[in-house]
Amino acid sequence: MSLEQINLGWGNPYFLLQILNGSILPKFMNFEASELSYPPKDGLEELRNLTKQVIKETTGLDYDHIIITNGATSAINTILRYEKPKYVYTHEYGYPLYDKIIKGNKMVRVNDLTRPRQQDCIDLIDSPSNPTGKQVLFAHGNNSIWDAVYHSSIYTYNLNLFPKNHKYYVGSYSKLLGLAGCRVGFIAINDPFLRDELYFENWKDLAGVSALSQKFLINVLKEIDLPMFLKSGEKSLNYNREEFQKIEHLFGNQLVNEIGMFYCAKCDDRLFKFLDKCNIQYVKLDSETIRLSMGHENEITKSAISRINQMDKIK
Ligand SMILES: Cc1ncc(COP(=O)(O)O)c(C=O)c1O
Repeated sequence: MSLEQINLGWGNPYFLLQILNGSILPKFMNFEASELSYPPKDGLEELRNLTKQVIKETTGLDYDHIIITNGATSAINTILRYEKPKYVYTHEYGYPLYDKIIKGNKMVRVNDLTRPRQQDCIDLIDSPSNPTGKQVLFAHGNNSIWDAVYHSSIYTYNLNLFPKNHKYYVGSYSKLLGLAGCRVGFIAINDPFLRDELYFENWKDLAGVSALSQKFLINVLKEIDLPMFLKSGEKSLNYNREEFQKIEHLFGNQLVNEIGMFYCAKCDDRLFKFLDKCNIQYVKLDSETIRLSMGHENEITKSAISRINQMDKIK
């Protein structure tokens, strides 16, 4: 009998949905149909104000202006389209869609933050990074983007470490609440001129962000006990992290990251074949590196890890 596939490739934070799930979600759907007209170009005012508070509560940082976007993905796209750099400097791997976004805008990606910078460039820094969990203190230049989607106490214990001189803060309710299907992210900035420019650039992309998703998020944010939720999220992810530590020995004792949501490990042909035999899906980052998501529900993570260990015994 073939084993059912377990997908540890896709970085969906199911462990957070597990906390939000149950009877509480329908409660957040209570709004009038008349509220679902076209949303403002920078998002609903109530969500923008709540988002300022959320950033303050999760990071201690204050920003004057918020633009609501179609996920962090669209936030990054909007900023790059506006800044129009020739070169975009990133960590070695990063969010798998970085490549598509950068190339789609006819820009050149340099995935090495230690290289000397070319003129006409921008730093796009995910800190903590996907998938290594690396955190960065400084960005190059004065126009850098800080992709902060994993910068909360769910994913890191060190909230003081981030690119202090960033110009753009990019966040996402996908990673903060697990509500990736709402497709809501945001840009936070201080410059009022920039806010006006991004206001139009954001609209050009997809003519706004679903009012339904925004309304839903407003209701969730008004209801949720955020500090409690962050604690539960951290605990749940740490449970998965400990499960993953049980397979470190199979990967030559490569340690599970203490920060972030992925196990990033070097692999040889034997290990690739073994994971395929276990029917565990992973993301291949290059010919010898994989990424496994630690973001599944606790039960699924536990059964994936025990399957891997059992299969290893009968190998
Ligand atoms: C570093 C990083 N940035 C951005 C995103 C995309 O976030 P969103 O779902 O808000 O578009 C991801 C998703 O995995 C990510 O890992």
